[in-house]
Amino acid sequence: MVDIHSHILWGLDDGAQQPEDTLDMARAAVADGITHIVATPHHKDGKYHNPAASIRERVAEANVLLAEHQIPLTVLPGMELHLYGEVIEDFHAAEQTILTLNDAQQFILLELPHDHVPCYTQQLLFDIQVEGYVPIIAHPERNREIREHPNTLYRMIEKGALSQLTAASVAGQFSADLQKISLDLVKHNLVHFIACDAHNITRRGFALQAAYNWVEKNLGVSYVQSYQENARKIVSGHEIYVPEPKRVEKRKKFLGLF
Ligand SMILES: [Fe+2]
Repeated sequence: MVDIHSHILWGLDDGAQQPEDTLDMARAAVADGITHIVATPHHKDGKYHNPAASIRERVAEANVLLAEHQIPLTVLPGMELHLYGEVIEDFHAAEQTILTLNDAQQFILLELPHDHVPCYTQQLLFDIQVEGYVPIIAHPERNREIREHPNTLYRMIEKGALSQLTAASVAGQFSADLQKISLDLVKHNLVHFIACDAHNITRRGFALQAAYNWVEKNLGVSYVQSYQENARKIVSGHEIYVPEPKRVEKRKKFLGLF
């Protein structure tokens, strides 16, 4: 399986700190059935600054380390870009700092703030697409505004953005509420990927198999197949399957933990 969101590279953010942590996480990923993992260190989130060149370099080092330890996992470059007002200017900067998923593809993993959706988000998502990129909204279920008003996400998806749920949310490892919200977003075709967003092997680890098992049990194997295929397409560069998004008609009050 392919995992498109992880903090497996050591020393760049709040994920792995030492090479040993990367090795532990890699072994856990393999045990979860993962063969390819996109490393997505935080960038421009107000705390971490990881321009493309430094990530590429650490990915190369990580792959050498994994080969030395005979761990059958391939690390691919990527980043988790925090949404900020000047993102388009950075696309045009002389020094290329933004990294797409798997470097060669057009997909950009975007992180929203946890408590709200900035008013400029729709415009920025549009501008990013005008530049030729496809934004993937990371863990929308963890954004309070989207939990309270899921059609905020619908409007983004309707306009061409994609989204990625966190496996632990889907598997019910955070809370029953978050699992229910995840299911609701899936049912409304507002989700295109499930990924681990693993930071370590304890509290925020790998749960991809558990998430897919849960989706299969509750919604059927076809959802699992399309999510797995979409994640593979990030690596192969093929077009992503995008079902028609459905507006969430019934207003619901979601109370999450994040
Ligand atoms: Fe992340």
